Amino acid sequence: MSTALVILAAGKGTRMNSDIPKVLHPIAQVPMLVHAMRAGAVLSPERTVIVTGHGAEAVAKVAKAEDDSTQIAVQEEQLGTAHAVAQARSALEGFDGDVVVLYGDTPFLQPDTLERMIAARAENDLVILGFEAADPARYGRLVMNGNALERIVEFKDATDEERAITLCNSGLLACDAKTLFALIDAVGNDNASGEYYLPDVVEIAGDRGLSVTAVACDEAQTLGVNSRVDLAAADAVFQARARAALLELGVTLMAPETVYLAADTIIGRDTVIEPNVVFGPGVTVESGATIRAFSHLEGCHVSRGAIVGPYARLRPGAELSENTRIGNFVEIKNAAIAEGAKVNHLSYVGDASVGAASNIGAGTITCNYDGVMKHRTTIGENVFIGSNTMLVAPVTVGDNAMTATGTVVTKDVEPEALAVARAKQENKPGYARKLFDMLKSKKARRDKGA
Ligand code: UD1
Ligand code: MG
Repeated sequence: MSTALVILAAGKGTRMNSDIPKVLHPIAQVPMLVHAMRAGAVLSPERTVIVTGHGAEAVAKVAKAEDDSTQIAVQEEQLGTAHAVAQARSALEGFDGDVVVLYGDTPFLQPDTLERMIAARAENDLVILGFEAADPARYGRLVMNGNALERIVEFKDATDEERAITLCNSGLLACDAKTLFALIDAVGNDNASGEYYLPDVVEIAGDRGLSVTAVACDEAQTLGVNSRVDLAAADAVFQARARAALLELGVTLMAPETVYLAADTIIGRDTVIEPNVVFGPGVTVESGATIRAFSHLEGCHVSRGAIVGPYARLRPGAELSENTRIGNFVEIKNAAIAEGAKVNHLSYVGDASVGAASNIGAGTITCNYDGVMKHRTTIGENVFIGSNTMLVAPVTVGDNAMTATGTVVTKDVEPEALAVARAKQENKPGYARKLFDMLKSKKARRDKGA
């Protein structure tokens, strides 16, 4: 049986209080919508349709970047979830199979849950995903009669008795495409919000003698994000799971609850992560590395045996080879640091390559930007860059070369040469004493006069 995904992502998300469409708010640095798309991908959908509305262009761009075969349906006016699904009709023209409706704001779905829904679909015409809510709050309630689901009642429209039900609607459903669109055609908007509610298909299906059931999963999977509070809670759920998975894999997290991970963070076993480390998107850390406290990493690769931080910043394109050392207050961007090289203190290395076993002294800066363009710095192997060297790119320092402390390098340095570019020092005997005497008597005169 083939499957199509319809992901609803048109809503404004009024309670987010945001200019950004709700489904683009990130959890673990990945937009909620992308989490939903990745969850749905386990069904190997023949088609995926994203229903967009608020911020349609931005939403479509993110969806296409994740999967360029994604189809976009636009819901001009947000008249409710049933109306939203109806917008996918033309994109699903000629599709014969099951439609699985996901919400773009329900990002934690697990693969086996979708598989259970599909399995239940084989025995029923319509399957709804429900969950036992600890605090049912504003969720729609599932009114069951044995195994049969009779109807779903929205919180706003529910009686006190119905509000006492804790089995809630996740919003997800599975149904044959033709049947689903026929049911949606019959949904009206005579309710507290004046909206076309997708959950109303349940009651209509029952009236038509179709079999409807609910599959339940844990609440964590169906966490719907409607506010910043929900967003923070969803992120916390993700972080707790991701940290537990890393610990399980053999990664040491000295203070797990202070390490912030991205959805795609990869860390090898026996790596030690000290407290208060933030991982942005696109980070891979190999086995046996150490990321010391208060470091911030994104879009970078850290090899075996490297030590990073404390207080280091690795920006996109930072590529650290084995046994490198990146110390405190060092920023690396778009730069390859070869095996055993050290950048230990207070440096900026950007658009550069540093050869094996080279040592970059404290306060060194690659001056990569001239205000208009970026330029590269190439440093060879076994180079010693003296403290406070300014490398004005484009520039190359050859193998086994040295730069003197405080040098401003504006010309290439050939291998094995020493580059010195600073004013010559002159010592004036006795001058310090004279100067002090002069200044002290000046101050004494001024204090008397005051
Ligand atoms: C919905 C369900 C509720 C369920 C809850 C779970 C309805 C009527 N209610 O309520 O039973 O417990 O989700 O989280 O379905 N959307 C559109 N177009 C629209 C309206 C919504 O695309 O016209 C999208 C939203 O972007 C969102 C999803 O549908 O991704 C759900 O909409 P939302 O407004 O969050 O519904 P809830 O009030 O949470
Ligand atoms: Mg919602």
